[in-house]
Amino acid sequence: MIFTVAIDGPAAAGKGTISRAVARHFGFAHLDTGLLYRAVGAKGGDPVEAARSLSEADLTRDDLRTLEAGQAASRVAVIPEVRAALTEFQRSFARREGGAVLDGRDIGTVICPEAEVKLFVTASAEVRAHRRWLEVGGDEAQVLAEVIERDKRDAERATAPLKPADDAVLLDTTELSIDAAVHKAIEAIEKRIEQG
Ligand code: DC
Repeated sequence: MIFTVAIDGPAAAGKGTISRAVARHFGFAHLDTGLLYRAVGAKGGDPVEAARSLSEADLTRDDLRTLEAGQAASRVAVIPEVRAALTEFQRSFARREGGAVLDGRDIGTVICPEAEVKLFVTASAEVRAHRRWLEVGGDEAQVLAEVIERDKRDAERATAPLKPADDAVLLDTTELSIDAAVHKAIEAIEKRIEQG
């Protein structure tokens, strides 16, 4: 079966948790596309070259989850040639046999506009910053400032900006528990599978 679930949204909205839970539930493969941009940012040097030569080893370095790596990712992600170099890999992952979940910023709009299910996961900036702060610690006001800065860059860039696809199901997790959000995501996918 070929079946793509596209999950987009801003930083720390719950995309990662929802994507992993959905992939586990349906036995689909999961690709965290933010990791590709984080790896390009962390590699240093010319970002376009870094994107073109990205390897498995680049994706498994253990410093990709930091706030700094997130900012570096968001900066290289504005470069159209970087995005283009990563497109084919994401598209073939999406159409692999057995089903796939991809999470990112432009999956439903640019990478897989034909995805069978599209979800757009959001939450208020304050709630997202609080969740991120629980993971990384430090100064919560600083974490909020970084979340807002990254949202702005991701949403305002010219190429593949962060925005919901017209046919995306919106999931606002500001007041929804992650369990409830996972449940809604599973429901939307089951409904689509039943339609055949
Ligand atoms: O999801 P994340 O926080 O790991 O993403 C890091 C940055 O990478 C994000 O701020 C913008 C960029 N990104 C992107 O432009 N497109 C994607 N599909 C995924 C991430």
